[in-house]
Amino acid sequence: MPEITVKEFDKFRELIHQKAGISIADNKIQLVQARVGRRLRFHDMDSFNEYYKLVVDDKSGHEMVQLLDAISINLTSFFREPSHFQFLNEVLPRVMEEKKKSGSSRIRTWSAGCSTGEEPYTLGMNIGEHCGASGGWDAKILATDLSTRVLAEAQAGVYHGDKVRSIAPHLVKKYLTQGTGEWSDNFRVSSQLSAMVVFRRLNLMDSQYPFKGPFDFIFCRNVMIYFNREFQQKLINRFYDYIGPGGYLFIGHSESLTSLDHKFKYIRPTVYQK
Ligand SMILES: C[S@@+](CC[C@H](N)C(=O)[O-])C[C@H]1O[C@@H](n2cnc3c(N)ncnc32)[C@H](O)[C@@H]1O
Repeated sequence: MPEITVKEFDKFRELIHQKAGISIADNKIQLVQARVGRRLRFHDMDSFNEYYKLVVDDKSGHEMVQLLDAISINLTSFFREPSHFQFLNEVLPRVMEEKKKSGSSRIRTWSAGCSTGEEPYTLGMNIGEHCGASGGWDAKILATDLSTRVLAEAQAGVYHGDKVRSIAPHLVKKYLTQGTGEWSDNFRVSSQLSAMVVFRRLNLMDSQYPFKGPFDFIFCRNVMIYFNREFQQKLINRFYDYIGPGGYLFIGHSESLTSLDHKFKYIRPTVYQK
């Protein structure tokens, strides 16, 4: 495998930034070498420049999708940053009460940057616990990501037992099924849970999104951290437009909106309301 040169590294990070808004720090040359290197190996190429040319010349956009898949960081877990789900439990009854008053039974949530599905399924379990019991609710979660690789995993909905450990046992019992035989270390999300979640590929950089909203809740956690300020600003304005009045935006615990201009009301660290 060739060593990536600083010039090649800069070309790739410029391209990745332009296409996906992802900013790659100066000290990430090894990461780019390793991740983009996989694509070189796949094509049996021995030059980063040659691979760069392949990506930009591929009019189908397929290789660009593969490159972004290789570079994206997909760390996630069930009930990650649990205070968000506690807060959701606190506000859901009031949100539902207001919906009832206005004659609506729709609860819409968007998990933007959903990775391998743990976040939207966690949302499904939480919301299902509120909406399932009283019946008649139309609760759906739109789960989007840039990476087709993580979306395929999310859609399969099969998780190793280690990953399921952060889910309360009564929820595991209700929303997941343990495999048998050689699959006994794995759990599959139930059809009830998967029916609540719709997965779609979406690049948050796209100039138009193929849906209208409005959403009651947007979760965009640990995604904006990879974007520069200009794109974060754009995204926050768009999220504001996509959230219905009184709806909430949740961002990751290492993220903040303090350096951005926005119209959201601050509720608590990482939680905002329209
Ligand atoms: C670290 S994961 C966060 C997963 C989950 N939200 C959480 O907090 O556990 C970040 C996800 O953002 C996605 N992502 C990065 N850039 C994106 C873009 N431009 N459009 C859509 N998704 C993007 C990545 O593919 C990755 O799956």
